[in-house]
Amino acid sequence: MTRILITDHVFPDLAIEHEVLAPLDAEIVLAPTADEDTLAELAASAQGILVCFAPVTERVVDAAAAAGCGVIARYGIGYDNVDVAAATRHGMVVTNVPDYCLDEVADHTMTLLLAAARGLVPAVREVANDGWAIDHAGVHRIAGRTLALVGLGGIGRRVAARALAFGLNVTAFDPFVDDPGVEGVALAATMADALAAADFVSLHAPATVENHHLIDGDAIAQMGRRPVLINTARGSLVDLDAAVAALDDGRLSGLALDVTEPEPLPPGHPLRRHPRAIITPHMAFHSVEATEELQRRAATEVLRALTGLEPARPVNREVLAR
Ligand SMILES: NC(=O)c1ccc[n+]([C@@H]2O[C@H](COP(=O)([O-])OP(=O)(O)OC[C@H]3O[C@@H](n4cnc5c(N)ncnc54)[C@H](O)[C@@H]3O)[C@@H](O)[C@H]2O)c1
Repeated sequence: MTRILITDHVFPDLAIEHEVLAPLDAEIVLAPTADEDTLAELAASAQGILVCFAPVTERVVDAAAAAGCGVIARYGIGYDNVDVAAATRHGMVVTNVPDYCLDEVADHTMTLLLAAARGLVPAVREVANDGWAIDHAGVHRIAGRTLALVGLGGIGRRVAARALAFGLNVTAFDPFVDDPGVEGVALAATMADALAAADFVSLHAPATVENHHLIDGDAIAQMGRRPVLINTARGSLVDLDAAVAALDDGRLSGLALDVTEPEPLPPGHPLRRHPRAIITPHMAFHSVEATEELQRRAATEVLRALTGLEPARPVNREVLAR
């Protein structure tokens, strides 16, 4: 019998997967935990894998290869949690869903920016505590201030368009982009140039080995205007200890994060209650519509791969030629 392993998920239920995969007459197995031992054991009898955030390590991929597994479908855009090189060695296709939530993440980024700029969280807390006072010093005009985007791909461009509509000046640093693609965005030659002039810094680069701790103490030292640092990309882009230190001593005026390292933030972590931090639980991708689309498209990749059709969005296309 065909078996599909779901390593982990964040959805209300798996009805969509059952519906999409019905033609395979497959058993759908949800891993009880996402540790490597459990996943390796379950992968050893799986012909297809659906993965959300769980690490699909070389050991898990090797175990799946022994079962003739043909596809690892990532629920999401980034696929840094899947050992793609190991999958490619075994001729296993890895897929992602690169564009299901671009508007949601851009909206969430602007939500964090606006909430930080308008002092929304302390104001709501004030009212909840039966007060009615305004934080006069902490709120500044948004129009005319500068947003630096680090990464100008699908999400970065959508943030740029929204930010321009709020009257922000938008600068972007992206070493792989020559044409900003959005009128009114200025490209910076270096990340340091972009950071130096920014009142808000927002990260939209992928989590690669090269980008690990892209924003560390040195990068924060290049930020000349005590900006709000926003991260809706991946936690590993930011050295969180350095960012907390900068928030505490005023080199950052705010920290607005949808993604952290580690994730979730440990209970009691200082950022959970920090007056100038806004932390959301890795939810930027989510809307009811985006999540349903994500489940359907990821499951369809498994169906296509296991019925001899080419997946729509392979990330290691070279295996298809074999
Ligand atoms: N929080 C969430 O729920 C959520 C949801 C979806 C995507 N994401 C994350 O958002 C990020 C952006 O996604 P996207 O769809 O726009 O990706 P994308 O691939 O379209 O764009 C990424 C851009 O970053 C650029 N880049 C790479 N390294 C860089 C560097 N060191 N400095 C500056 N730019 C660099 C690339 O050239 C590319 O243009 C990814 O990290 C993705 O994982 C988060």
